[in-house]
Amino acid sequence: MMEVSWWRTTFGQDEKQRIGAAIDGEHISQGSVTAAFEQALGAYLGVPYVVATTSGSMALLMALMALGVGPGDEVIVPNRTWIATAHAPLVLGAKVRLVDVLPDLPLMDVAQVEAAITPRTKAVIPVHLYGTMCDMPALKAVADRHGLAIVEDCAHCIEGERSGVRPGQLSDAACYSFYATKNLACGEGGAVATRSEELARQVKLLSLHGMSKNAAGRYHGSYQHWDMLTLGWKCNLDDIHSALIVDQLSRLDALWARRREIYERYEAGFSGTPGLGRPAVVGKSAHHLYTIWVDPARRDQILHDLQERGVGVAVNFRAIHLLSYFSETFGFKRGDFPRAEAIGDRTISLPFYPKLSDAEVDYVIAQVLEVVQG
Ligand SMILES: Cc1ncc(COP(=O)(O)O)c(C=O)c1O
Repeated sequence: MMEVSWWRTTFGQDEKQRIGAAIDGEHISQGSVTAAFEQALGAYLGVPYVVATTSGSMALLMALMALGVGPGDEVIVPNRTWIATAHAPLVLGAKVRLVDVLPDLPLMDVAQVEAAITPRTKAVIPVHLYGTMCDMPALKAVADRHGLAIVEDCAHCIEGERSGVRPGQLSDAACYSFYATKNLACGEGGAVATRSEELARQVKLLSLHGMSKNAAGRYHGSYQHWDMLTLGWKCNLDDIHSALIVDQLSRLDALWARRREIYERYEAGFSGTPGLGRPAVVGKSAHHLYTIWVDPARRDQILHDLQERGVGVAVNFRAIHLLSYFSETFGFKRGDFPRAEAIGDRTISLPFYPKLSDAEVDYVIAQVLEVVQG
């Protein structure tokens, strides 16, 4: 039996050397590495301003806060995402309006977004789930008609493109995660990318307690006093984490190309198998996760059987309105979001990372076919 873990990291010598240099540097939090990473990510994305944060969750929180989202506001969120997307507006005291996804794509249904808009709606958060982008031109048209801000959840989508649009290009802010298993990973990390210099300035301020000077500004040159200008949080990315991702950026496209090969191998292996569905891909997917859809009545048994055969599995994600906090706090029940529920009940994520060998992919395919068809 082979053991194919659900995730393996792709760090190399570059990262080890960078970490060494970062810890030998003068300031291991706000030295020069995070600034270099912010600039490099902006260049990769083609978005002028990037502020790195301690996580994708904090990037979402900072972007919404900088846009002035707070009590009395409503934010529209798709019910097919990680809990962080809904958590950020809730923490700011705003109301979350969940919307269902498209029937064939696990992405925000723009028609439902329009129907969910009220005079209190301030922002909408499209989630480019698994790496496939939402229909940003259609969403942008709706947002412009109603004066809404768009904050993209790009935790799964750095490399994606759809209809000539890339993440960050039609929104007010695009939020990234560099969590351990993401396409660009440093353990915990995130970033806000924006075309607005003013929004970037606000995010920077809010991610450093609202202080007028960062550490570099306080400790370098002749001492200058700082002021606290507003009430913020403390969630700036430090140089040690940035050291882990600054060089990965130059390998991002090569890593994507290997995941694309694995995607094609899985697709060829599964195509035409009764009882085994997969979400559609539109445009260039960032190929962050590879998921299959199975009989909901057998899903948990299939998860168990695959693990017994050495295949790592995950579930991304069950419908969030059925999680205890949401159902108990807001009274949601089964049947409220049928499409998100149907996918949440059927979905299984398979191992999907550049270090997988073809032999491992073939092993996973063979086990899935046996278990699903058996
Ligand atoms: C869709 C989505 N949004 C947001 C996040 C939050 O990112 P982080 O874990 O870096 O806070 C994640 C992380 O898994 C995610 O998958």
